[in-house]
Amino acid sequence: MSKVSIIGAGNVGATCANVLVTGQVADEVVLLDIKEGVSEGKAMDIMQTANILGLNTRLVGVTNDYAMTENSDVVVITSGIPRKPGMTREELIGVNAGIVKSVTENVLKHSPNAIIVCISNPMDTMTYLIHKVSGLPKNRIIGMGGALDSARFKYFLSLALEANATEVEGIVIGGHGDTTMIPLTRFAAYRGIPASSLLPADLLAKVAADTMVGGATLTKLLGTSAWYAPGAAGAQMVAAILHNQKKLISASALLEGEYGESDLCIGVPCIIGRNGIEKIVTFDLNEEEKALFHKSAEAVHKTNAALAGAI
Ligand code: APR
Repeated sequence: MSKVSIIGAGNVGATCANVLVTGQVADEVVLLDIKEGVSEGKAMDIMQTANILGLNTRLVGVTNDYAMTENSDVVVITSGIPRKPGMTREELIGVNAGIVKSVTENVLKHSPNAIIVCISNPMDTMTYLIHKVSGLPKNRIIGMGGALDSARFKYFLSLALEANATEVEGIVIGGHGDTTMIPLTRFAAYRGIPASSLLPADLLAKVAADTMVGGATLTKLLGTSAWYAPGAAGAQMVAAILHNQKKLISASALLEGEYGESDLCIGVPCIIGRNGIEKIVTFDLNEEEKALFHKSAEAVHKTNAALAGAI
């Protein structure tokens, strides 16, 4: 029996639940929100697709009742406020730190062995906060940002290459922020062929630039931050854990010297399996990438410093 709890039944949490149910990723999913009735309503709506789509995953919605999350294998945290047009993810820290801290404490009372996937923003700092609050081993806390940023990178890459979205490769490392993420254009590829040999340099640079403001672009269009891809990226991580897929996914992980950084969570390539982050994959960045990574880490450290009152 596999069980997943999603805390926060807003746009991202409900989408993640829907992907887990339609993909039949887990046996049981619990959707919890502090707002009376919201999670029950969303769970009921999603479960009414079960007969139409022939689904066997069971989803239940609960209002703030953590007893229902008991013995979850994975807990996805999406609770908190999203950004509005013009806001950066970092500006959410004041409100979201308090929410993520209390949610983490409640979750662990009922599921002490769970692996936690953090989606709430500012995601790298919230992932770090969960480490500080929980004291869990580092493999059991995973920040989702890099998976989403890499998916956006591959989307823009597929448009530029006029390629099928499933046939392009690309990875984004660094912080999950408009100015801190690093789309690694050097490794972008179309079925193994370097994208740099297929696209003019200025177009490849535009793919990277569009990726970096990918979230902000959607926030401007939608009036709130995106949910389909963030929810699906969270579900991708849950599937990798529950099904022990050993997938290489960019994730925010606690670094202890890898890439020359420590005491922060930031996006790096990780092998995700039944034990969570089973390995941080390290490889040689070139001088320019190294400089960008250290600058990104500096910015994440700066945001983390704002947690001082919360931890
Ligand atoms: N416990 C449980 N749920 C909570 C709590 C709490 N303490 N505080 C807030 N919530 C719930 C809200 O009631 C709301 O339903 O979290 C949900 C957030 O949903 P949305 O406002 O729709 O936000 P969403 O777009 O889903 O984004 C959630 O993910 O991508 C990030 O930046 C985004 O931090 C944001 C998070």
